[in-house]
This record gives sequence, C-alpha cells and structure tokens, in this order.
Amino acid sequence: MFCLINYKGVDKPLPWDGLIVEVGFGRGEFLLKLARDNPEKKVLGFELSGISIEKLLKKLRREDLRNVHCTRIDAYWGFHFLLRDGSVERIYINYPDPWFKKRDYKRRLTTRKNLYMFHRKMRQGGIIRIRTDYGPFAEFSLEEAEWLGGFDTTMRELSVKEPLTKYERRWLSEGKKLYELTLKKSGETRPVETPKVKEVKELFPVKVEGRTPQFDRLENVEEKLEDRVYTKFFRSYTREGVFLIETLLSEEGFTQKFFIEARRKGEHWLVDVSPHSEVLRTENLKKVVQLVAERGFKP
Ligand SMILES: C[S@@+](CC[C@H](N)C(=O)[O-])C[C@H]1O[C@@H](n2cnc3c(N)ncnc32)[C@H](O)[C@@H]1O
Repeated sequence: MFCLINYKGVDKPLPWDGLIVEVGFGRGEFLLKLARDNPEKKVLGFELSGISIEKLLKKLRREDLRNVHCTRIDAYWGFHFLLRDGSVERIYINYPDPWFKKRDYKRRLTTRKNLYMFHRKMRQGGIIRIRTDYGPFAEFSLEEAEWLGGFDTTMRELSVKEPLTKYERRWLSEGKKLYELTLKKSGETRPVETPKVKEVKELFPVKVEGRTPQFDRLENVEEKLEDRVYTKFFRSYTREGVFLIETLLSEEGFTQKFFIEARRKGEHWLVDVSPHSEVLRTENLKKVVQLVAERGFKP
C-alpha cells in the first residue's frame, strides 16, 4: 500500500494490528522517527492540513520507509472509518492546537467524544501520550479522560534532562513548562453518544424520464436531510451536454464537497455523483442524489 491512503477508496477497516498512530503530525519529523524506531510496526498519521501531507511525502521521497502511512482526515473520522476496534497500541498527540476560548473547546482533540473513539480502537494496556505547552489544555484533557473513565492517567512536567526533540529542548531551556499526559487503557468507559456516518457499498444512479435538467433551480439551496445532516448546492454548469452542480454534504460534522451530474442515456437522464469527484459513499449521499433527481429538473 502507498504511504498516502485514500480513505474514500480503500477497503475498510484497515487490516492492521498493534498500530502506532500520530494525530496532527504537522511537519512529520516525529512520525518519521516513530517509523524508524519501530520498523516492525505500522505507523499511521492523521492530518487535516494538505501542506503537512505534502511535506511528509516530500521527506519520504528522500527516505525509504515502508511502514509509514498517512491520510488527510479529521482524527475522529479517521479512527471511526479506518481502524478496527482494539487494533491500536499507541497514540501520540504532540502540541495540538489549544483552542483558547471556551466556545472553541469542542474543537480540541481531547474532547470526551474523541477520547471515547480513541479508547474504542485501542487495545487493553494501549496508551495515548499527549504533550502540550499550555497547562489549561493539559488540565482539560485530564478532566475529559477522568470523566470518561477506562483510563489510568498520569500527568507530569517534562525535564530538560530527558532525550527530547530539538524544539522541546529549546522551549525548556527558555524556561517554558511542558506537560505530558499519559492515558493508559485499563477498562471500560462510560457510554457516550457519538456521531456516526453509515457507508454503503454502492451508489446507484437515479433515472429521470421525460424531463430536462435545470440545475440552476438548486443553486444556493440549503436543505436539512435529518438531524445534524445538511446539504447545500452551489454553482451549476453545463459541459458537453452534461449538467453539473457543486454540492456540499455535512453529516454529523463529516463534510464532503463534490459534483452531482445529469448525463443523457438514450431517452432518459442518469443522475449520479460525477466520476471526477471522489467521495465516501454514504446513505445520505444517496439521498442527495435522489433530491437532485427530484428537484433539479424542469417541472
Ligand atoms: C499545532 S500543530 C502541531 C503539529 C505537530 N504535532 C508538532 O508538534 O509540531 C497541530 C496540527 O494538528 C492538525 N490537526 C488539528 N486538528 C486535527 C484533527 N481533528 N485531526 C487531524 N489533525 C488535526 C493541524 O492541521 C496541525 O498540523
């Protein structure tokens, strides 16, 4: 398998066990070190930033490491879609965005919702190691983990005498405090309501007979499909007889942007996701295609 995993197309869940995962690997040096230090293990990085992914791939062109993989996805959904329960041995989260304002706490990587998902994918005795230079973030993460249960927790300050990265050594020598929180899976958590998105094996085109597409009718239309599931349509185009509309689907916070097309086939039209858009096939995506077939044609 290539280093860069296309989570939309790959067979899920990944067949790996005893995995080491880094969440938000940034420049990627630590992820590469994990891969070098653990040649017998699969090392997987989740990142939201396309630039970070590019930087990692560039570094990998200079170094032949076969056990390191990455994908561009929010960590919660990466764990949800790609990993088997009990398959993760270690998770590293280094210096995550602290999200200082209270109203942004829900964006933090160590919310109970995320910790619950990480816990589920970890094996007994597996660990999450979080490092941060922001004390209140460390406290928040500890409180979330203790609320959830199912972890033995330890928190400590890093010492300059330890073998640390060059950045950590510099920060400590400048007098900055660095915190390390370790969460070891030791039992069951409290139950937590978590967002789920249901994948389907196939998306079938919808056949429309006796009517002509008029996708501009849908431009800027927003629709709630169900609780926490929304779609929005943007610009429509016609290209070589194919009608296209740019579409966004947000399911429980998992967002995809793609084109839906209508293409003539004999006497009727086939409405489908454009073959140029790569998508994760979900039940709600089927509903959006259906909606375009119902509302995107001349009455
Ligand atoms: C402050 S940087 C730290 C980068 C690196 N770990 C380091 O120590 O230098 C946080 C990184 O986490 C990534 N990130 C933030 N939220 C994320 C999420 N929900 N899933 C995956 N990556 C995320 C960001 O794109 C960013 O690259």
